[in-house]
Amino acid sequence: MNNILKNTMTAAAIALSISAGASDIQIDYLGTNNTLVRVKGANRYLMLPVQESNEDAKVNVLVNGNIERSFAVRLAKTKVDYTVPFDLSPFDGKDVVLDIVSSQGRASVREAKQDACWSNFSLSDTIDCANKEKYRPLYHHTPEWGWMNDPNGMFYKDGVWHLCYQWNPYGSKWQNMTWGSSTSTDLIHWEHHPAAIIPNGLGMVFSGSSAIDRSGSAGFGKDAVVAMYTSAGVSQMQSLAVSHDNGLTYDIYPANPVITMETEARDPNMFWDNDKKQWILVLAHALEHEMLFFTSPDMKQWTLRGSFGKGLGAQGGVWECPDLFRLKVDGTDKEKWMLICNINPGGPFGGSAVQYFTGDFDGNTFKADTDKNGNVATKWLDYGKDNYALVSWSDVPDGRRVAIGWMSNWQYAAEVPTMQFRSANTLPREIRLFEGLDGETYASCGVAQEMLGLRGKTFTEAKRLSVSGKKKSFALPESNSGACEITLDMNKGKSSKILLTLSNKEGECVSMWYDTAANTFSVDRRKSGITDFSQDFASVTTAPVLDTESTLSLRVFVDTSSIEVFGNGGRFAITNLVFPKSPYTTLTVSSEGGKGNISNLKVYSLNLK
Ligand code: FRU
Repeated sequence: MNNILKNTMTAAAIALSISAGASDIQIDYLGTNNTLVRVKGANRYLMLPVQESNEDAKVNVLVNGNIERSFAVRLAKTKVDYTVPFDLSPFDGKDVVLDIVSSQGRASVREAKQDACWSNFSLSDTIDCANKEKYRPLYHHTPEWGWMNDPNGMFYKDGVWHLCYQWNPYGSKWQNMTWGSSTSTDLIHWEHHPAAIIPNGLGMVFSGSSAIDRSGSAGFGKDAVVAMYTSAGVSQMQSLAVSHDNGLTYDIYPANPVITMETEARDPNMFWDNDKKQWILVLAHALEHEMLFFTSPDMKQWTLRGSFGKGLGAQGGVWECPDLFRLKVDGTDKEKWMLICNINPGGPFGGSAVQYFTGDFDGNTFKADTDKNGNVATKWLDYGKDNYALVSWSDVPDGRRVAIGWMSNWQYAAEVPTMQFRSANTLPREIRLFEGLDGETYASCGVAQEMLGLRGKTFTEAKRLSVSGKKKSFALPESNSGACEITLDMNKGKSSKILLTLSNKEGECVSMWYDTAANTFSVDRRKSGITDFSQDFASVTTAPVLDTESTLSLRVFVDTSSIEVFGNGGRFAITNLVFPKSPYTTLTVSSEGGKGNISNLKVYSLNLK
């Protein structure tokens, strides 16, 4: 195209100025796949119109002619599903130009101009994140808007739980990986902060960890909070970022990357080894299905010491998001190391899951416990489909290991029926070690004690119930979209199964049962509500009940779109998403094969203020 023609077209396009106050947004069409959006004025946000089914457009944000940000966004073609904010505040009121290149050009400039996005850019000083979506959880951590996956960079300091997360601020599908940022003082209420680490020249900001450098070993000062994350550009490298304001903002370390490799490795998990006065790093050697161990005196120079995992445990997918720590084994004087190796796919019910090993770690390598036949058993921390990338907070007092997982599964995470946000985290859990009746060490992951703070009034109560083939029903609270906690003890008596069902007026239900002969607990969400967005969603998941004590104690947490079941203080956990058309309002109990007993049944409403 010759320049004269191009300039004529640009002049014509200037006519399309959107008045958010005079002509604050100006659109220049440059061709079939390239458009400039110029923004003037003092508003805080430029709202970008998104259509999820459309292809990505690549946006370079120019200020004074320099590229200040680059991201991808699915700008609307035929209709606007929702808008996402682009924050103009870092640019001090200067003119901002978005140079937008669509990945698929239109047949003509005339056609390109028809895209719905161009007339739907707007300026705003606020973002509307009110909890309007039906399936937005009421007491689980979610991003204010946009896509979320793994929890990242978690540490506890001065009474505050810091939780970053893999975040796409420009849409509700995976893209533009950024560390979103939030904090809580009670693990129930979360305050959202501006992004902690944004993509830079080395690439997107993938998962990683943060640690408090108490002695200032890295030269960033005593008590600096140091994050290590994976820079994901064409290749994956490990990078540092430093925070001097307790994790609210991080400065990128100028000499990044600090670890490079010739193969894919990611999700660094770094902690201080007080015995040997050194830093230890566990890195997922994803495609090799193993974890690598490095040591360093200063977080900058790292030496590879050993590896663990080849041929052990589940090998059906990539190994990601490691965590490694030492814990007491309950009821003994023993201490053991626990290594978490998240795996995707290859989980027990398809897709993503949290695998772990117990054993010893000598600073160089991990040696897994073997069973009585000399084999390394495959162990799972959760027997639902929706707990992945679980890792723990560092620096939690009293030797506690509190962890949180991403409450979804890569099989369908991008398809679940939400819009303005996508994905929540599980409830925080406390990991403990115990000895099973077979003499092996297992991890429990009961809900963190802080969740008692959610308990409101007792809504329903039954001290002692004999259950049989005849169903007994109890009402569940309809307020707060059905959110509640249910606790009960089950005693098998003469039954072969004790069943619990949550159901709604539409006839949708989640069935759960204790198979007293097989000593397993199952959750069936095949009829739980909307399931047809993915063939992998409808499922029955089953956990072993490791104790054969006569009583099985359950705690069940119901939120708008999830059910988390904890058996015997977390000796098994089952986390599953559900999307009922209306809240479950009835709890039904019954048994098969003979009479069973339920005692101490309580349904609690929740304090959600
Ligand atoms: C796990 C994971 C990580 C990676 C991140 C990217 O869910 O694949 O290995 O760092 O997600 O968002």
